[in-house]
Amino acid sequence: MADNNTNREMRNQWNELARINPFYAIDSVPEFESVEKADINTFFARGREDVDKFMKDMDITQSNEKTIVEIGCGMGRMSNSFSEYFKKVIAVDVSDEMLKKASEICKKTNVEFRKTDGDNLSFIPNESVDVVFSFIVFQHIIDTASIFNYIRDMSRVLKMDGIAYFQLRTFIPDFAEDITIKKIIKRKIKSIISRDTSNGGKRDDNAGNLENQFANNFSVWKGSRVDISDLLIFLKQQKFEIISIKGVDTQYTFFKVRKAS
Ligand SMILES: C[S@@+](CC[C@H](N)C(=O)[O-])C[C@H]1O[C@@H](n2cnc3c(N)ncnc32)[C@H](O)[C@@H]1O
Repeated sequence: MADNNTNREMRNQWNELARINPFYAIDSVPEFESVEKADINTFFARGREDVDKFMKDMDITQSNEKTIVEIGCGMGRMSNSFSEYFKKVIAVDVSDEMLKKASEICKKTNVEFRKTDGDNLSFIPNESVDVVFSFIVFQHIIDTASIFNYIRDMSRVLKMDGIAYFQLRTFIPDFAEDITIKKIIKRKIKSIISRDTSNGGKRDDNAGNLENQFANNFSVWKGSRVDISDLLIFLKQQKFEIISIKGVDTQYTFFKVRKAS
């Protein structure tokens, strides 16, 4: 578990980002650069587009009977639309400010907003949910130990055969001098990965003023990246079976994994 200072730092920074411009902090496209002009309908419509696309990728049967946990829900941009696919949405965020704004604008009765410490889902019982989802959140986590902690907890809260679908930034380490398990992993990666970076989750990397302000003043904006081989080993240890991986070695690496026995 990441130390409390790291979690506090993440919370403070995201609260500050939410006070400056929560729309741009969540969805960094030119139309949200001015907080005064940000249109809430556009914000939710973009969330719906992402949700429709991810629902296809996740391919969840009978989702209307199921519960999804969304880690890093922000202002409910996607929770709002997930609520139309799922029976219940547990929308989790580290930032009080984001959660406050989310509950003001997202009034869906089957969405429950919850605050997390920043690295766990401790308020969710064991084996109680069907799907765990996260998009453009783990890439902002400063200490990768928090990401691994979340993955451990995803396995705990998921029912057997439950699906975790999450995105983070990865890199392929240099294996040249490594004769241990990483070599085996490398062969495995080669057989399952796609280096496709044309996935729809890609953001517009507009380098405007706000982008610079965020990048220069907030370490969470730059976040971290995860060694893909460490991640594969860890997923296996947590009893996850890999269904697909897309965009390895990019900011937008998508994992779809199933909790196996
Ligand atoms: C770029 S926004 C994306 C929000 C949402 N996923 C979306 O696409 O609309 C990142 C969100 O993740 C939250 N967040 C950052 N670090 C987190 C952590 N360690 N645990 C939970 N939420 C976190 C932030 O407060 C923020 O609301």
